Amino acid sequence: MRIAMIGTGYVGLVSGACFADFGHRVTCVDTDAGKITALNRGEIPIFEPDLDRLVAASVSAGRLDFTTDLAGPVGEADAVFIAVGTPSRRGDGHADLTYVHAAAREIARALQGFTVVVTKSTVPVGTGDEVERIIRETNPQADIAVASNPEFLREGAAIRDFKHPDRIVVGTSDERARKVLGEVYRPLYLNQAPIMYTERRTAELIKYAANAFLATKITFINEMADLSEKVGADVQEVARGIGLDNRIGPKFLNAGPGFGGSCFPKDTRALVKTALDHDVPLRIVEAVLAVNDNRKRAMARKVSSALGGNLRGKTIGLLGLTFKPDTDDMREAPSIPLVTGLLDLGAKVRAYDPAGMEQAKKELPDITYCEDPYAVARDADALVIVTEWRQFRALDLKRLKREMATPVMVDLRNIYRRDEMEELGFTYESVGRGAV
Ligand SMILES: NC(=O)c1ccc[n+]([C@@H]2O[C@H](COP(=O)([O-])OP(=O)(O)OC[C@H]3O[C@@H](n4cnc5c(N)ncnc54)[C@H](O)[C@@H]3O)[C@@H](O)[C@H]2O)c1
Repeated sequence: MRIAMIGTGYVGLVSGACFADFGHRVTCVDTDAGKITALNRGEIPIFEPDLDRLVAASVSAGRLDFTTDLAGPVGEADAVFIAVGTPSRRGDGHADLTYVHAAAREIARALQGFTVVVTKSTVPVGTGDEVERIIRETNPQADIAVASNPEFLREGAAIRDFKHPDRIVVGTSDERARKVLGEVYRPLYLNQAPIMYTERRTAELIKYAANAFLATKITFINEMADLSEKVGADVQEVARGIGLDNRIGPKFLNAGPGFGGSCFPKDTRALVKTALDHDVPLRIVEAVLAVNDNRKRAMARKVSSALGGNLRGKTIGLLGLTFKPDTDDMREAPSIPLVTGLLDLGAKVRAYDPAGMEQAKKELPDITYCEDPYAVARDADALVIVTEWRQFRALDLKRLKREMATPVMVDLRNIYRRDEMEELGFTYESVGRGAV
């Protein structure tokens, strides 16, 4: 199959590289000329484990290339995937569909022969109808089927998720589109990935419902963490105790500083807006958003209270800045409101992140960036574990303590154990572990 991938970001680049690895002939297109030039030089513009190797192998096999010119690859494609960004629209939280609509117009002009146009971007219900309308209006001769194929990969585990998905959702009622997408995903049948065919609008809603449900799970356990602290319970054992119930499951039950990232916040906001447009208030999802926003803002106060309630003139060291490990993505990371809060309370902030510091500098210009965790600890009044990178799980704690002005550790990811930390002489705070 010939595939054109429109948008070469986290989703477009990973999907394009994986499709090429399956044996398809893929061209990834992006309007960002700098990104395309870098990719053509063999540089990967994002941090994603193993992506460099996968891209290099498919490029040298002649199955993957990169361009800013959309018309050529779209004209030749059996399937054109739209994988452009759908950020929150400034002001109202709706999904901003400017990039999707612009891509649809450009695709329309370049189509030749029967082509399946597939939205892989996360888009509100009804966007497939609008994409189809735009294409038919721009190019009435176009022979197309517009399908929805939402993407469920997680940054940090994106290649694995793409190659071993829990399910593939394809939304279309067009037989020819089903056939083409069946061919595109055929290599995954070997991995026995269930492919679910449904209507386009249903596929669009499945993606939002999945993200809203996962965000709800995280927020639920975060509230249990707050209660655990008050009543002397341990939220990690509560999570294990409920997660062993098959009806609940153990995943997405780690208490922490609140969810962030490029998907959950914007997708829950967009779902709430879509539902309100249809007079169906989603009160659970609204509450999840409000609770999570409050929680992220409350983390600076948590650090302050670990230091007796006054941060003026204090130095706080942050370990991790990205919204989760194994990515450089800083979009809506909990570290952003945390840093803002700490600076507002009069603290100085030092930080280290294994992959996200270049991105972080754009969002957080007013902090000091350090070369490793021990440099962060130097003269710090407290250290805060913000992101659970693997390398923070086995720190030389004695060395850290020697570097610090006062040995206070606020572990927002519950990586360490209170008894061990206290034995080493740390004042140790974590999330939801009230049990003594
Ligand atoms: N990042 C994730 O983990 C993830 C997971 C599942 C779904 N999604 C969804 O996938 C979509 C893409 O997300 P992302 O994180 O890859 O975004 P991204 O911002 O990393 O990449 C989007 C890319 O599209 C390019 N672009 C914009 N308009 C274009 C056009 N007209 N033609 C060609 N290129 C264009 C941009 O330059 C950018 O490089 C979003 O809808 C997102 O919600 C993301």
